[in-house]
Parts: sequence; structure tokens; C-alpha cells
Amino acid sequence: MIISHITSLIFFVNVVSSLDNGVARTPPMGWLQWERFRCIIDCETYPNDCVSEKLFTDIANRLSEDGYLEAGYEYVNIDDCWAEHKRDKNMNMVADKKRFPRGIGALADFMHHKGLKMGIYTDFVTKTCGGYPGSIFHMQKDTEQFAKWGIDMVKVDGCYSCNSLMDEGYGAMGAYMNATGRPMLYSCSWPAYIAKDKPYKQLQPMCNIWRNWNDIQDSFDSMMSIANYMGDHQEEFAKYVGPGNFNDPDMLLIGDYSLSEGESQMQMAIWSIMAAPLFISADLRKMKQWQKDILLNKEVIAVNQDPLGLFGKRLLKTSIEQIWMKVLVDGAYSVAIVSTRHDRPVYQTFSFVEYGIEGPFMVRDLFQKKDLGTMATKVTVEVDPNSVRMLKLTPKKKSHTQITPKKKQHKKFERPGKQPHKQVNERKQQHGLFGWSDDMAVEAEKKYMRFHPKRH
Ligand code: GLA
Repeated sequence: MIISHITSLIFFVNVVSSLDNGVARTPPMGWLQWERFRCIIDCETYPNDCVSEKLFTDIANRLSEDGYLEAGYEYVNIDDCWAEHKRDKNMNMVADKKRFPRGIGALADFMHHKGLKMGIYTDFVTKTCGGYPGSIFHMQKDTEQFAKWGIDMVKVDGCYSCNSLMDEGYGAMGAYMNATGRPMLYSCSWPAYIAKDKPYKQLQPMCNIWRNWNDIQDSFDSMMSIANYMGDHQEEFAKYVGPGNFNDPDMLLIGDYSLSEGESQMQMAIWSIMAAPLFISADLRKMKQWQKDILLNKEVIAVNQDPLGLFGKRLLKTSIEQIWMKVLVDGAYSVAIVSTRHDRPVYQTFSFVEYGIEGPFMVRDLFQKKDLGTMATKVTVEVDPNSVRMLKLTPKKKSHTQITPKKKQHKKFERPGKQPHKQVNERKQQHGLFGWSDDMAVEAEKKYMRFHPKRH
């Protein structure tokens, strides 16, 4: 039991050969429109909330002025419903002219000027989930357009696809993105559309982050169902995580309407232990101080951003309690002791030996920002209903499980440009699935036409 806990926590360190396109060396952090602002396009009724230039510039101002950017939240990401329904006469995608009067390029310039990054959304098939133009038949054009606009991250959705199109579709989008020479973080929704036998092995050299499962909704139950899903499949999910590759359990709800303070801390703790991307999807113009305190807690963020990039795991789940633990750099650990009891606070004990780690540890409570002292064998804490205590355990002596990150020379982003045939073939061999884009795009288009003879 002891051995298996700790072995399963550290087994994959240094084994993973992750995608090195220079981005997402630690889980990306930022803000994403979808969970809170959806597809609100009626700017007359909802001038502050509609998906528009105003919304994104307001959010950018809050990110840079209220401490979020300093804490690491750097991406400002547009989701669905940003485009005109029709491409222009040159078949370029165009941002909605009323809602984005200066276009996406100008918005990206604005973000960069503030030290932020800009993300955008498309679907690799014909239409986005909201019915806006998708990229099939225009993959190269769209990715080049994104690069020209100065986009730093692209979320590629998979609505209107079928399983057999995903491989070439996601592969082609990734390869075209790579070919632009602009480092763009690639977020793939592929596994969220697959019920079983998810394609993580294929995704690893192709995408930086991938959505594993259902869309998060603004409720504790939705958040918990995702956390439980991730915990139930953690052995499968942990294998492919490391600098450059992260599972994406979807956005943070903190700052939105449903989560209490304890529940918000719980999401922040579990997401940080899972090394999940931290994308806020709340109205940053209306945050309460406790919500900001949770999102800006530097010690919790440091757990999320730990340079080993390990996917921490759920070590215990009963109907009323959970324990999640992540191995950190320099032999430390972070432990989230979760209570899902609704009725009263409980005392919970985390025994080191039971989970295969050896004290003594200096124990610090990361949300209470308090040192709890040095503990030799266990730590006991009181946990409020539907809440968490998130601890950091730092070894008093050098731990036998000490792991330091692989010293990796940071590879420069490749700029393939127009490649002669020989290089293209070499590249194909070198990258396996993440090979040359044209073949895959043509294959995806052909398959699409086979299933949907009428192009729409
Ligand atoms: C899907 C995705 C969501 C969001 C919507 C937009 O449901 O999973 O994250 O992008 O599409 O329509």
C-alpha cells in the first residue's frame, strides 16, 4: 500500500517525453470567456457582458491592475461566438464587426502592450459548437491568420466531428500552427469528445493541453463531478503530463456565483495539485476580496506551477473525505485534505507513513498562511463542511524521494517556414504523428466529405 502510493506518485517523473514547442512548461494561467460569459452577443441589452472588444479590454485592465498578471494569469482568451458568420471574400475569418470594431489583431496588440497574451478559439470541423465558422478546408489560412494577428494560444474544439476525423484534424491544425513559426499554445478538446480509450498518447506530442471531459458549469456538483472523474482516471491521465503537456479539467469557477469560500478553496487546491491550467472565468470587475485572495494565493499557485509539472493524485476517497497529494520539487509535498461532509466540521488526520512518506516535516497551511509546526508522523486538522485544508510538507532532512527537475536545455521554437521536400520528410519521421500538415488536412477533408458529401 505504502509503496504503491508513493511509486504511483513519482513513477512518471522524467519518463515523459513531452511536447516542447517552448510554451506551457508549467500549467498555463489566465482568463477564459466561456463559463461566465458564454455566447452573449446582444450588446444592446448586455453592454458589459457581451462577447466584445470592451469585455476583453475591461478584463485585461483588471488582470494587469489588480495583481492577477503579477500572480501569473497572463492569457486573455476569447472562446466561441467572436466571429462573423461568414468569411470574407478571400475566405478569411473575420471578427464580428460590431462587437470587435478594431479586429482581433488590434486587440492582441493591446494585450501585448499590457504584458498579456491573447488566445482565440476555433473548431477544426465546419462549425464551432455555437455555429460560427470552423476551420476545415481553411486550416492553413486560419492558423496563418491567427499568427498574423499575434495570437498566443488557440483552443481547437471538435463539435461537428466524428471520432475518425480527430486524428488528422487535430494533427493538421497543430502542424499548421507550428509551421507559422509563432509559438502558439495548442489546446485540444479531442478527448472530451471520446467516451473510452482516449487518445492521450497521440495528443502528447501534438497538443499542450487537452480537455479530458465535460464542460464545467457554475455549481459545486459540476466541479466535484469533474474532480472525481479526474481522480477515477488518474493513472491513465498522469502518464502524459509534464512540462509542455497538461490535462485540462476546465475553468475555475472561483469568482462566479455558486461556490462558497470553502468550495472555492477546494477547487483551487485540487486544480493546483492536478497541475491543471488555471483559467478564471469570472467577471473580474465584480470580485469579492475573499475570491481574489484565493485566486491570488501565491503559495497555492506555486504548487500549481511547480517546475516538475507532475499530476498530483487522489490518494483517498470516501463518501465524506478525500486526500489529494502532489510531489513537489526538492522533496516537498502538497496535500489537500478535503471534507465533503455538509453537516459539521471534522478533524481529519493525515498520517505520513500511511501514504508512504517519511517525516519529520515542517507543515504549513497554505490558505491560512500559517506554519503549523514540525510534525514527525502525522498532522491533524479541522476541516469545515465542504471545504479543504491545503498543506505544504517540507522535509526537515533530505528526503529519500527528493526529485529535482530534469535539467533541460530550453529548445528554441522551430521556424520551419516553407520547407523543401527533404526537410518535410525528415520532419515527418522525426515527429511521427505530428507530421506534415498538408497530408493530414487533405485526409481530414476527404474523410469529412465521405461522411458529409454536402459541404456546409
Ligand atoms: C464546447 C466546449 C466549451 C466551449 C463551448 C463553446 O462546449 O467544450 O468549452 O468552448 O463549446 O461553444
